Amino acid sequence: MSKPVKLFEPLTIRGTTLPNRVVVSPLCMYSAVDGLAQPWHFAHLSTFARGKAGLVFTEATAVEARGRITPACLGIWNDEQAEALRPITSFIESMGCVPGMQLAHAGAKASTRPPFSAKGPIPLSEADSATDGAPWQAVAPSALPVADGWHVPAELDQAGLQEVTQAFVEAAQRAVDVGFRVLELHMAHGYLLHSFLSPLTNRRDDAYGGDIDGRMRFPLEVTRAVRAAIPDELPLFARISAIDGREGGWTMDDSVVFGERMAEAGADVIDCSSGGIGGAPRFRSDDSGKPLTANSARMPGFQVPFSRRIREEAGIKSMAVGVIIDPHQAEEILQSGGADLVALGREIMHDPFWPLHAAEALGVDPDFKMWPQQYAWAVDRRAQIKALNE
Ligand SMILES: Cc1cc2nc3c(=O)[nH]c(=O)nc-3n(C[C@H](O)[C@H](O)[C@H](O)COP(=O)(O)O)c2cc1C
Repeated sequence: MSKPVKLFEPLTIRGTTLPNRVVVSPLCMYSAVDGLAQPWHFAHLSTFARGKAGLVFTEATAVEARGRITPACLGIWNDEQAEALRPITSFIESMGCVPGMQLAHAGAKASTRPPFSAKGPIPLSEADSATDGAPWQAVAPSALPVADGWHVPAELDQAGLQEVTQAFVEAAQRAVDVGFRVLELHMAHGYLLHSFLSPLTNRRDDAYGGDIDGRMRFPLEVTRAVRAAIPDELPLFARISAIDGREGGWTMDDSVVFGERMAEAGADVIDCSSGGIGGAPRFRSDDSGKPLTANSARMPGFQVPFSRRIREEAGIKSMAVGVIIDPHQAEEILQSGGADLVALGREIMHDPFWPLHAAEALGVDPDFKMWPQQYAWAVDRRAQIKALNE
């Protein structure tokens, strides 16, 4: 007998059951106004629920105004922003899927332009023409610009750290109030919490810098504070950059230590991405010295080795992401113990019905019963007509 298909096996974490293992990775849309969700956000996120992804994450949603990547990023630092998301969570629920929010603070990488306009930081000379208060003063563990020509962030002092922690806590509570049932803390891609972890961006000489314990302190404090503020049955994820892939940067061994500590702090899943400080990784920690090429850096499942190690060594569930394209590939990742969940970004934007197409391909839904009922009968009919014409 063949093994049961794992991609469509429900997963219960704490008191929350995901109906399958397909996750929509957080995807910035750069389409919010004053941090408020627009009709675009409803259409975008609802589409994935119609496609029956088990867990649908919002884009990186800023916990405070200065924590937005761009002026067009989604925010949840006030009640109006939270309420604007309620129709989205209720639609996702109505499809039997679980709505999740990625809570984020951009740190030194804040106050930039959306990638589909001119990329990069918004220069001070554009202060009058830019919308929504941009550019604004970015904050970071240390006053280090992201790169030459970037703004210099202000170093967060003790009061500033408390403010940020409080912003994460209040944002988490608002998210729960409007129906999100999974929260993810964004600790990857060079944004604020990652920049505390990495020795490349954290040069502090107080308790929040120095050795790995010092650098982990703030992200762990935020995790504990958020965990304490949300219901017990709600899963808490954290997205990390498992490696910086730069000389002197954060390594996979560090990620294993951090995964263990995050589990103790109340996190349930580590979502394993990479890079973001000084760009994409130049080498992998396990073959350090051997430079990555554009191809080797973006092979299908290129980040699965990170989630596999976290799962095997850190005593916490893991999620794999990055060039997961084919349903059989996704299934193999789960069957071989590479992850508990798979997240898709670009592929599911290209095909929002990916989970339903995967169910068909893996023989889980031969009669199209998983499709929303409004479509199911017609999609079944389509298959019959197709067969007749073959
Ligand atoms: C348009 C776009 C927006 C993204 N926005 C976010 C984001 O808000 N937060 C985040 O952690 N990653 C973000 N990412 C990264 C994706 O979540 C994902 O990790 C990455 O695209 C790799 O997965 P993929 O190969 O399936 O696309 C974004 C990627 C894309 C293409």
